Amino acid sequence: MDKKIQIGLLGIGTVGSGVLETILNHVSTLEIKKIAEKDPAKIGQYLHLPQGIFTDNAEELINDTDIKIFVELIGGINPALGLIKKAIQNKKHIVTANKELIAKHGKELFELAEKNNVVILYEAAVGGGIPIIMPLKQSLSANKITGMAGILNGTTNYILTKMEQEGSSFEEVLKEAQKRGYAEADPTADMQGYDAAYKIAILASLAFNKNVDINSVYKEGIVGISPVDIGYAKEFGYKIKLIGLVQNGEIENIDVRVHPMLVPEEHPISGIDGVLNAIVIEGEPVSRVMFSGPGAGKFPTASSVVGDILSLAHEISVTDYPMPMMRFSGAGKDAVLKDISETNNKYYIRVTAVNTPGVMGELGTICGRNSINLSGIVQKEMIEDGSAMIVLLTELAREKDVQKALGEMGENPKIKEINNLIRVME
Ligand code: HSE
Repeated sequence: MDKKIQIGLLGIGTVGSGVLETILNHVSTLEIKKIAEKDPAKIGQYLHLPQGIFTDNAEELINDTDIKIFVELIGGINPALGLIKKAIQNKKHIVTANKELIAKHGKELFELAEKNNVVILYEAAVGGGIPIIMPLKQSLSANKITGMAGILNGTTNYILTKMEQEGSSFEEVLKEAQKRGYAEADPTADMQGYDAAYKIAILASLAFNKNVDINSVYKEGIVGISPVDIGYAKEFGYKIKLIGLVQNGEIENIDVRVHPMLVPEEHPISGIDGVLNAIVIEGEPVSRVMFSGPGAGKFPTASSVVGDILSLAHEISVTDYPMPMMRFSGAGKDAVLKDISETNNKYYIRVTAVNTPGVMGELGTICGRNSINLSGIVQKEMIEDGSAMIVLLTELAREKDVQKALGEMGENPKIKEINNLIRVME
C-alpha cells in the first residue's frame, strides 16, 4: 500500500479504545481520520492525540469522502443501524463487532452493501479474538458443515465454571461477577442466552450460506441451572455448559439453538472454562476442528477488528471489487429452521418425588408409553421432608415426546416437582 487508507472510528468504549490503541501502537498503514465519541471522559484519555480528529457527530465520518472504512463499535441497534446504512450508501466499507445488529439486520445490510459494492466484515462479532468468521468463509469453504457446537458467551461460562468449582448458586456467582466487573450490570442478554443466540445464528448463516432468522432460534439461558445439577452431571461424567448448537446439516431443515447441555468430559469443549470461548466445527472432509480463545475483552476483540480493517485496506488499495469470498452471498435465501419439538436429544431429567413404592416404576412407565428409552434412573438423595430426588437419563428421544412425558409426570400425584430438564451432548 503506497497511500494510507483512511478510516473513521465510531465509539471508543472498551473495544473502540482497544482498536484505537492497537492501531496507534502497531499499525503504520492506516490513518484514523476521525473518531466519533459523545463521552468527553473517553476522549479525555487521549489528550496526546490531535483533538481535531474527535467529533461528537457520527455524520461527519459518514460524509467525509476521504474515509473509506467506517468502523462501528458502539453496539446495539440504534443508532448503529441507521448510521451504517448511511455509510454504506456513501460507499464506505464497514467493520463492526456488533453481533446483535448482524443477527437481526444482516439480510438488509448485506443486500444494501452488495448494491453499493462495499463489504461488511464482522470477525469480532463472534468469539471476540477467535478467528472464526474468516475460517468459515474461506479456509473451510470446501466443507459440507454437518455440525457446530460453541461456548459463545464468556460471562455465562465463567459463572458455570465458578458454580462447579465452588458449589455456589447461580445468584451468588452472578452477584460476585457483577461486583468484579465481569458481568454486565444488566446481565439479561448474557444470562438468558440472547448473546449466544446472535452468535450461533451468525455462524449458521455462514455455514449454510442462508439467512437465519434470529426469532426462530430456540434459546434457553443458564438461570435454571443449580449446583445440584452440576454435581450430578459431574458424577455421571459430564460438565454443564451453555452451548450454541447447529446440527444435522440438512440444508432445508437446519437445527440451530442455544441451551445448557451436559457435555461429556471427553469432548474437547468440556475443558473450556472461565471466560474462554470455543467453537467445534464438524464438516466433510475436514472431520472435526476446534477454535478456542478469549471470547471478549478490549485487546482480543480489537485483534479481530483491526485484522478486518487491514484485510479490507489491503484489498481496496488493489481492486475495485474487494473480497469476493468475504461477501455474504446468502442474503437472498432464507434457511428453514427445525422447531425444537422436532429435534432428537438425549436428556437429563431431575424430579422430586414422594418416597413411596412404585415411583420409579411409574416414571419408567410414563417414559415407555412416550417412546422414551431410559439409559438410567437413579434415586439420588432424600430431602428433609421425606421426598426423594430422582434423576432420569434417556437415550435419543424426540423433544415432543419428552415434553409430553414431563406433562404426565407433572400430573402424577407422586411427583412433587420437575426440577430440571437438560439436554445431553452425544
Ligand atoms: N458479553 C459477551 C460474553 C461478550 O460474555 O461473552 C460480548 O459478546
